[in-house]
Amino acid sequence: MNEPIIKTEHLTHIYAPDTPFELAAVRDVNLEIRKGEILGIIGHTGSGKSTLIQHLNALQKPTSGRVLLEGQDIFASKASIRQARARVGLVFQYPEYQLFEETVYKDIAFGPKNMSLTGEEIDRRVREAAGFVGLEEEILERSPFDLSGGQKRRVAIAGVIAMMPEVLVLDEPMAGLDPAGRESIMENILSYHDKTGAAIVIVTHSMEEAARHADRMVVLNHGSVAMDGAPEQIFSRGPELRRMGLDTPVMTDVAERLAGLGVRLPGTVYTVEQMVDALMQLERGLGRA
Ligand SMILES: Nc1ncnc2c1ncn2[C@@H]1O[C@H](COP(=O)(O)OP(=O)(O)OP(=O)(O)O)[C@@H](O)[C@H]1O
Ligand SMILES: [Mg+2]
Repeated sequence: MNEPIIKTEHLTHIYAPDTPFELAAVRDVNLEIRKGEILGIIGHTGSGKSTLIQHLNALQKPTSGRVLLEGQDIFASKASIRQARARVGLVFQYPEYQLFEETVYKDIAFGPKNMSLTGEEIDRRVREAAGFVGLEEEILERSPFDLSGGQKRRVAIAGVIAMMPEVLVLDEPMAGLDPAGRESIMENILSYHDKTGAAIVIVTHSMEEAARHADRMVVLNHGSVAMDGAPEQIFSRGPELRRMGLDTPVMTDVAERLAGLGVRLPGTVYTVEQMVDALMQLERGLGRA
């Protein structure tokens, strides 16, 4: 198992403290993000996912507790805040609404320009980031406002990738896209992961997506970590997940219903591929009996 790059220690975030609107959105969260892993964060609406991840690059300040980047408190100084913003890239929910430059190129270059890099290095990064998200060269000179929703989303993600973060954090990156769009954005994110070895943190409502791609999953419930483990450990707790208002993957539901009928599949099943494997194993077992 890789060593952690980020740790939160007793991280708590209270909105509007000491007012009638006081709300503890994140409560005593101890989380580790390991180098190179793909971590899925799931939880019901309002469970604190966005608030939590905005602490990872110092966009939100803890009410109490700390965020450590390789052991150093990211709020220790102005320099450490700046470091956290450069090393931990955050893609917001619906990031396409934050595009504002006159060309796609300038939008992608915005982050790297604030990192005191040479013009040549900025240019290299913009083109490489565009490549990661599958944007063609000729789109770079167009206005981001002329693009489709899916393409705008890619431009926004490229803007963060161009900063070459060691941890890429994405808040619902597939939300609002059609299935083909979702699939290709996911492929873009995975290609950045595979080529750079960066850790990826993906907030998602979709259990299916988390199930297919995450090495580890964290389930938030009312601001606290309710579960933290490998997908098969999480999905073996279907009834608890549903009590927290989460859907379980379709294949998990099918496996549970089969178990109800007395058909016990080997192992935990949460993807179609695993279901096929489990059924084939079962069939071979029956053949022998
Ligand atoms: N700026 C804010 N001021 C006050 N309360 C807020 C603020 N942002 C979020 N909240 C509240 O904090 C809680 C956690 O919100 P957060 O957006 O972190 O949850 P989430 O899990 O990302 O939800 P969603 O799945 O809907 O995106 C919610 O009750 C929300 O209403
Ligand atoms: Mg959110």
